[in-house]
Amino acid sequence: MIVCTSISQFREERARLLAASETPGSLGLFPTMGYLHAGHAEMIRIARKENRLVAVSIFVNPLQFGPHEDLERYPRSPEADEQLCRLLDVDLLFMPSIVEMYGQQPVLSSVHVGMLGSHLCGTSRPGHFDGVCTVVAKLFNIVMPTRAYFSRKDAQQLRIVQQMTRDLSFPVEIVAGPIVREEDGLAISSRNAYLTASERSIAPRIAQTLRTIQRRVAQGERDVALLQREAVHTLEAYEGIRVDYLSFVDPDTLQPFTTLVPGRETLCAAAVYVGKTRLIDNIDVRAPASTEYTVTARGKR
Ligand code: PAJ
Repeated sequence: MIVCTSISQFREERARLLAASETPGSLGLFPTMGYLHAGHAEMIRIARKENRLVAVSIFVNPLQFGPHEDLERYPRSPEADEQLCRLLDVDLLFMPSIVEMYGQQPVLSSVHVGMLGSHLCGTSRPGHFDGVCTVVAKLFNIVMPTRAYFSRKDAQQLRIVQQMTRDLSFPVEIVAGPIVREEDGLAISSRNAYLTASERSIAPRIAQTLRTIQRRVAQGERDVALLQREAVHTLEAYEGIRVDYLSFVDPDTLQPFTTLVPGRETLCAAAVYVGKTRLIDNIDVRAPASTEYTVTARGKR
């Protein structure tokens, strides 16, 4: 594995590795902010299977953090990350500094995300997705990957990156990966490290509540407001839990639904504070296409 800290070094090594390969091969990029965990590892494994070369980037991107967010204390473990990447047979690890990525002067150009970035996480994190897309666009230009990997864990980010790639004609295939969870269902996140022991013990309620919603919808419940009320009530019954949002949206437009239409793809996405830590999770919920199915499903119970 070659570790690169500068853009020029990365470009040179990339060209050298591609020239050295006997068959023209694909390059898969997995962009991260480090503090790698089992979810990241799974995504790297997927990229490893699908590409001749795999590049991982580790960069805690200041542009995507708001002024009162956790940029300074975002968890970091560069040595362990490097070790894990070696273990997973990554070819190129790109770990630039902030100055290497953005220079000494303020950044004057950026990618602006339209409507897709304005709701869900965009409401409480204004400018966040502009920051994400700006760094992802830069990484695409530096790494020039054939494919880039993003998990459904950050469903809005994935959708926005797909849109940006199309809108700006990046010749990159965006590959969506799964959400890797702890045994108790909690979606793995670098930010889980912020949780105290008691917060960690209640955090799985988020995933459990989403699964309950999925079951209720499969059983025929269509009333979004009712499902939201129930879910918020269940979650906020735990001291220290506060729901930022819990929305039912079109996975393509990310626009909220007020009612569930049978057979229509629906994403139920939530951001929930556990103590001071804001965690996100989501689940596909789709109302059964026919009432017959609903009756059968109920009949089985
Ligand atoms: P980061 O939070 O480090 O996540 C990097 C990638 O790992 C994202 O695609 C994210 O969705 C995925 N990931 C996070 N938790 C996961 C889990 N439990 N299972 C599977 N994959 C998971 O997302 C970012 O960094 C940044 O915004 C970035 C895209 C790197 C731009 O700065």
